[in-house]
Amino acid sequence: MSDCVEQQAAPPIGANIPPGRTRDCLDPWNYLEISARGDIRPCCNFHPLAELLDSEASIGAVRDNAGFRALRKSLLSGELQGPCEKCHIRKMTPVGVLERRLSSAKHRRSQPDILAPLPVVELRIDINEKCNLRCDYCAVSSPEYRGVEMNGELFEKVEKLVGEVSPHAAVHVNGHGETTYHPKWMTMCGSIIEVGYRPHIITNLAKNYSEEEIDMLAKFSSIQVSLDSDDDALMRSIRKSVRTAHVFETIERILNAAGRLGISPAPRVSFSVGVYDPSIWTLERFVERIVAFGVRNITFWNLVEMDHQRLVEPLRNLPASDQNRARAILAAVRRTLEKADVNYIFAGDFDSMVPQLTGASRLRSILRRARRAAWRRVFSA
Ligand SMILES: C[S@@+](CC[C@H](N)C(=O)[O-])C[C@H]1O[C@@H](n2cnc3c(N)ncnc32)[C@H](O)[C@@H]1O
Ligand code: SF4
Repeated sequence: MSDCVEQQAAPPIGANIPPGRTRDCLDPWNYLEISARGDIRPCCNFHPLAELLDSEASIGAVRDNAGFRALRKSLLSGELQGPCEKCHIRKMTPVGVLERRLSSAKHRRSQPDILAPLPVVELRIDINEKCNLRCDYCAVSSPEYRGVEMNGELFEKVEKLVGEVSPHAAVHVNGHGETTYHPKWMTMCGSIIEVGYRPHIITNLAKNYSEEEIDMLAKFSSIQVSLDSDDDALMRSIRKSVRTAHVFETIERILNAAGRLGISPAPRVSFSVGVYDPSIWTLERFVERIVAFGVRNITFWNLVEMDHQRLVEPLRNLPASDQNRARAILAAVRRTLEKADVNYIFAGDFDSMVPQLTGASRLRSILRRARRAAWRRVFSA
């Protein structure tokens, strides 16, 4: 759930959930997130089900409270609560499919109580709701937005919680703002790393980072960099103070630091690229640059519309002729990515702009990748 963006103006999906269907979602069982104010949520869409500061209970007990159990029950019955009804992340599925996924997970954990929590596989800690940028499309730029930084007292509670979570859980330190803009982000992330985790982060990577900060980022498992275009003037108007060359230089500094510190594997660098009007018109060139840099994973996201946005439009709002131009660009981008064996996802509802791969073309794509991987193995032997 780490690619979560709060949705403002999207139409409610599933206002009338057909009987026997539910969201394909195990998050309330095995995922957890803590906001910068200390709210404990079962996912990024749902309202808080507990407060970290108020609770002296163990996290296991908190995750088994009435609110968590009611949410799990509603998913298993298909009588969805409001946020699950409107969820834009998890698809609908027959209740039986969710039950089967759950019982195989429960079986592996020998947990007979179907409403009890499972071990946390992913924990997201939102250290900072404030940001150094003001992207036109982001909730952070809304006039009503009041972001806070996580304070030291709360972070002590988070440290305790991290200690209770399985060492195999993935710990994500990102949320609504920019983690690396928190004045204490080094101390906070340092303490998570000290107990043995290599955290994951989504970041605009736009700051001028000190050597110490670069060394800290080199200890992360994965770094997803948000940038939508290599047109600096465009990015300056839409996202404010961000320069493409600087972002690429910073990635290079992080990878060099990983080498110097003997950190293996180095952090997995990926990109999160917003596809909207106007970023679509520079997308081909930008993707070629990302691929040439050696990045192997890209997520393209569709715009979740905000009332306050002024400079961006989702592709579906374009006139038909521009939609056709956009479609041709997206097809060319996909060809580039397939040829370079780069993993990619188009996240969000791109409607007919990005046709889904058919079974046959997906199979061809898998076979092509397998063949190339085999050739690479032969040549590197
Ligand atoms: C809210 S940001 C927080 C992390 C960090 N500050 C960054 O920009 O990477 C997380 C991701 O949400 C994306 N995002 C922001 N506003 C969005 C919107 N209206 N629709 C879709 N994605 C959005 C950002 O581009 C970024 O990739
Ligand atoms: S950098 Fe990230 S958090 Fe900051 S305004 Fe942009 S999208 Fe939002």
